[in-house]
Amino acid sequence: MENKSGKFIVLEGIDGCGKSTHARLLTKWLASKGFSVLHTKEPSRGPIGLLLRQYLKLNAPPRVDALLFTADRAEHLEREIKPALNNGMVVVCERYVYSTIAYQAAQGLNLNWLKKLNSFVLKPDLVLFLDIRPDIAVKRTTTNEKFEELSFLKKVNANFKKLAKNEQFLTINAGRGKKVVQEEIRKKVLDWLTKESL
Ligand code: TYD
Repeated sequence: MENKSGKFIVLEGIDGCGKSTHARLLTKWLASKGFSVLHTKEPSRGPIGLLLRQYLKLNAPPRVDALLFTADRAEHLEREIKPALNNGMVVVCERYVYSTIAYQAAQGLNLNWLKKLNSFVLKPDLVLFLDIRPDIAVKRTTTNEKFEELSFLKKVNANFKKLAKNEQFLTINAGRGKKVVQEEIRKKVLDWLTKESL
């Protein structure tokens, strides 16, 4: 990453917190400010991400989930994220290594093993954590996917809160209306970008 000149922004949070909506709105807004932006996500739209979505429908062992999410990340970084950053783009990515730590630790995997497995990743410049009460989030989900169960999402959100504290994420209260949440995200990103360019 010697030539990295872009900015790498990650949005994290449990299913139903509004990551996709806010990543889309943030991308549009940054583009309107003249930034060249790549909006992407994990699981990615690459070959391993596609395999992963099929695999999640089966009740696979958590360790296999962790390895697939991490393999997808390794591929996604090389194929999409690093080239965009090297071209000076702002990358807005929904989910990243912190999802593997928060979700797969909630599945019972060892935290240190998960961190070590992911030690190759490029550190984001900014992580926004969309914090929401799991009971509210679960009502917003529509798909009934493997991880969208209240007791599980409570564990995941608690893991995200610990990460947010230890890794200095910017935490956003995502239980409010879409407009006010997006305004706060824009303000926080703008403050951060201004500080970065001083
Ligand atoms: P999700 O963001 O819901 O993708 P999509 O909207 O495309 O279906 O991700 C799918 C599920 O995978 C979600 O419940 C979170 C989970 N997940 C992990 O458990 N670990 C990870 O590392 C990632 C990236 C996602």
